[in-house]
Amino acid sequence: MTATTSREYHLVRRPVGLPATADFTVVTRSLPAPASGEVLVRNRFLSVDPYMRGRMMDVKSYVPPFALNAPLDGGAVGRVEASNHPDFAVGDTVVSMLGWREAYLSDGKGLIRIDPTLAPPQAYLGTLGMPGLTAYAGLFVIGGLRDKETVLVSGAAGAVGMVVCQIAKARDCRVIAVVGSDDKAQWLEREAGVDVTINYRTAPNLRKAIAAAAPDGVDLTFENVGGDHLEAAIATSKTFGRVVICGLISQYNATEAPAGIRNVRDILTKRLTVRGFIVSDHNDRRADFLRDMSGWIKAGRMKWSETIVDGFDRMPEAFLGLFSGKNLGKMVVRLG
Ligand SMILES: NC(=O)c1ccc[n+]([C@@H]2O[C@H](COP(=O)([O-])OP(=O)(O)OC[C@H]3O[C@@H](n4cnc5c(N)ncnc54)[C@H](OP(=O)(O)O)[C@@H]3O)[C@@H](O)[C@H]2O)c1
Repeated sequence: MTATTSREYHLVRRPVGLPATADFTVVTRSLPAPASGEVLVRNRFLSVDPYMRGRMMDVKSYVPPFALNAPLDGGAVGRVEASNHPDFAVGDTVVSMLGWREAYLSDGKGLIRIDPTLAPPQAYLGTLGMPGLTAYAGLFVIGGLRDKETVLVSGAAGAVGMVVCQIAKARDCRVIAVVGSDDKAQWLEREAGVDVTINYRTAPNLRKAIAAAAPDGVDLTFENVGGDHLEAAIATSKTFGRVVICGLISQYNATEAPAGIRNVRDILTKRLTVRGFIVSDHNDRRADFLRDMSGWIKAGRMKWSETIVDGFDRMPEAFLGLFSGKNLGKMVVRLG
């Protein structure tokens, strides 16, 4: 086999505020044929995720920042094109963290072969992948979800949110979903069976809208957005309610410290439990998650939507789209 070329994205400067396409550049590299113990993988789907924005800043966090002028990484699904590795055959479909590039060589570490009969391969970047596990661990391990509770979900039509809504429905919960468009609301009502949807862009008062949907209060909030959404969740929680902080996407592009939570007093007086989490701390739940998720999918209890952007050149555009709600469900880039 001869050498192959692969384009990859590098970050050339750290974004301030909303990233710009000029923050990225494309570098072409030549990959030799796989050596003994290596595979060559050509990516078919690349993931863009909100957490990548955090990695573009040079700050200490739970994961190191992206280096400048070096390949970016992230979730990807690819096909083994050449193999000199005993555990992988040509044609295998694999998930890796070697995204933001067209192709790569690997010694097999970190590659996971997937079952392409259960769902389309790109679902392993969404419902069957990291976002799905985030929903599962956040609800059960952190949130202690119980049957028939009232559950509030912000960012409810994103990759994580739509799984949260449906797991909660599978546990007979009353689900209130907050989203940014009527199309997203309709999808969640029709496909995910949520009980109430609220479009935060058009609702005159988010807090009042949630209170009207949950007259006795919310037992469990799954918070993906932060800011006003989090304040509304705290305000509408029941006494002894729980608030799971999964994400704060409304603040990821902030150029100054965001305003604090103005109703901290409610946390005290209502004796709320507010707890953040990071999915990578819960990899021990992956087998349980895959078992339960496979069961829900086979039983027709788990639906999903994807927003597929075609073309390697459109990777930054897809990533930026996450911050203006361009996606219904998981946003992925499909390579030709
Ligand atoms: N803790 C963890 O380990 C972990 C793991 C994965 C994800 N997360 C977090 O979970 C959240 C959801 O992730 P995801 O992958 O499901 O997201 P996603 O599919 O990328 O969807 C993001 C959605 O967030 C909404 N949004 C963006 N900016 C907003 C703003 N300023 N105000 C309100 N809504 C806004 C948009 O929907 P609308 O049209 O509805 O506004 C957008 O479609 C993110 O905060 C992410 O960082 C955390």
